[in-house]
Amino acid sequence: MTSEDGTVLITGANSGLGMECARAIRRDAPSLSLVLASRDLERTTAVARDLAGPSSDVPVQARALDLGSLGDVRRFAREMREQIFPGRWPPLRALVLNAGVQVTRKTPSADGYELTFAVNHLGHYLLTLLLLPLFETPGRIVFVSSGTHDPEERTGMPAPHLRDARTLASLHDADDQSPGAFGRRAYTTSKLCNVLCAYELSRRLEATGLSTAEAPLTVNAFDPGLMPGTGLARDYPGWQQALWNTAFRALRILPNVNGTEASGDALARLVLDPELRDTTRRYFQGRHPKPSSKESYDEDLARALWEESAELVGLRPEERLPAARDAAAS
Ligand SMILES: NC(=O)c1ccc[n+]([C@@H]2O[C@H](COP(=O)([O-])OP(=O)(O)OC[C@H]3O[C@@H](n4cnc5c(N)ncnc54)[C@H](OP(=O)(O)O)[C@@H]3O)[C@@H](O)[C@H]2O)c1
Repeated sequence: MTSEDGTVLITGANSGLGMECARAIRRDAPSLSLVLASRDLERTTAVARDLAGPSSDVPVQARALDLGSLGDVRRFAREMREQIFPGRWPPLRALVLNAGVQVTRKTPSADGYELTFAVNHLGHYLLTLLLLPLFETPGRIVFVSSGTHDPEERTGMPAPHLRDARTLASLHDADDQSPGAFGRRAYTTSKLCNVLCAYELSRRLEATGLSTAEAPLTVNAFDPGLMPGTGLARDYPGWQQALWNTAFRALRILPNVNGTEASGDALARLVLDPELRDTTRRYFQGRHPKPSSKESYDEDLARALWEESAELVGLRPEERLPAARDAAAS
């Protein structure tokens, strides 16, 4: 980050990758304030206290946020507007969209949408749009995706199956399989949505002048690699969780299998490294830029996902961000 002061907001920062990313930012850029947002406030507060340490006057604050409830995302954004920014805290400079779930059974979100799609995509989509007015440039937004979004990566996960957003949000999607298989495909599809959404947001920020060469607001996507042992498998049956927590750790000798500390460092770098000030619409596997899946570069798909998501989250006219072609016409 080029600025000495500023605030970084991280979703899902009370465990796993998000917590390690927050720790790395605190270590490498102690002048940056942090907002850590997750559902479990007690656990998030413990992490915030640990990171703040006894004497620092640079704040680290825990906040409750349920991305599976559009009402709660709106409540959270309103509180950010009224209680944190602008003026009271250093300006918002970075947003790390890290929280994620992988469920085994079809589960409704608070709004009746399929939970994986609701938390991993819709909640982050709405949050980002509501927080945009609070940003000061140069700024950065990072979507945490996964190599599983790309069928060519051969991760052992089912290929994503992108359909219109209303179908993906539906609990009665015809793409029904066994419960576990459904959950894994919903997950990889949501991770494809993260990459499509990152690229589309970057295009729209440039088209509307909210990101310029002099004052960039960049958007990138990140694959942390397989990180066995995190809470991501918490919905899986006991034996699968046991495998995830024990045997899978041995896989760390393989390429793109990492501990959360290493991936947290790599994620923090996307927020902090001055050399990445202007880098946007890129996909990083750990510390290395690489192409994302073929489908993720389809601009028509990205535009459709964006517009349909706007309907699903009930975006108001003043909250919308025009597409490149519409911004050029107006
Ligand atoms: N582990 C892997 O192998 C792997 C591989 C590729 C990508 N990723 C991605 O890495 C990111 C972090 O996952 P992780 O492995 O670190 O898993 P994790 O330990 O389970 O962390 C997930 C975080 O998300 C939060 N969260 C879950 N549901 C939420 C909701 N409705 N609202 C707000 N926060 C919520 C959790 O806290 P609360 O429960 O308190 O809300 C937790 O802090 C995810 O986006 C995941 O898709 C993981």
